[in-house]
Amino acid sequence: MKGTIIKCLQEMVEKRHSKESWQQILNEAGLEGPQFFSLSSDVPDTDAIGLFEATASVLGLSPEATSDAFGDHWVNDYAARVYQTLYARLRSAREFILALDGVHMMVTNTIENAHPPRFDYQEEGDDTLIVTYKSQRGLIDLYVGLARGVGRYFSTPMQVTKLGASQVRIRFL
Ligand code: HEM
Repeated sequence: MKGTIIKCLQEMVEKRHSKESWQQILNEAGLEGPQFFSLSSDVPDTDAIGLFEATASVLGLSPEATSDAFGDHWVNDYAARVYQTLYARLRSAREFILALDGVHMMVTNTIENAHPPRFDYQEEGDDTLIVTYKSQRGLIDLYVGLARGVGRYFSTPMQVTKLGASQVRIRFL
């Protein structure tokens, strides 16, 4: 997984909790010594997933609450700064969600070793999207947390429901 994800996780923990909590998380995940995560560095998937699990355990949060905190920080703080230009042309939560397959392809196509998640979309009536999440990593909870972050960014009430390991229903209310 690209370092940008872990850089954001670290920033979320340090801003909302403390630098000490991040140190504890690194220790709990078995990563010793100072760790530097850059946008394009490669973090083995097992380490990345281990860091999310350690975050939940050190902060005393459920996996879902950890994903929601990460998703909120990614969409509303970190990516809004780091990937500012991408945000400029996205006008609504629905547009943002529908653009994400292309966004992931675009931001990773010049980075070696990136395996971005892919998304398919089916419309169900006027207000509902069924999203199919395609990734070997099985991080559907992260998808749910990030999608909720998109709703908050646009102040759009949205109901995001996990339907299984690879499908999510998003209702725009
Ligand atoms: C401007 C906004 C965004 C950018 C630039 C972005 C970029 C990225 C990048 C670079 C990765 C790492 C990919 C890799 O290591 O191969 C990633 C992972 C991921 N992104 Fe995004 N992302 C954005 C928003 C979102 C949103 C809003 C969602 C969901 C609604 C999302 C879902 C995911 C998931 C679930 C992963 C974890 C990797 C996986 O499941 O395989 N992203 N993203």
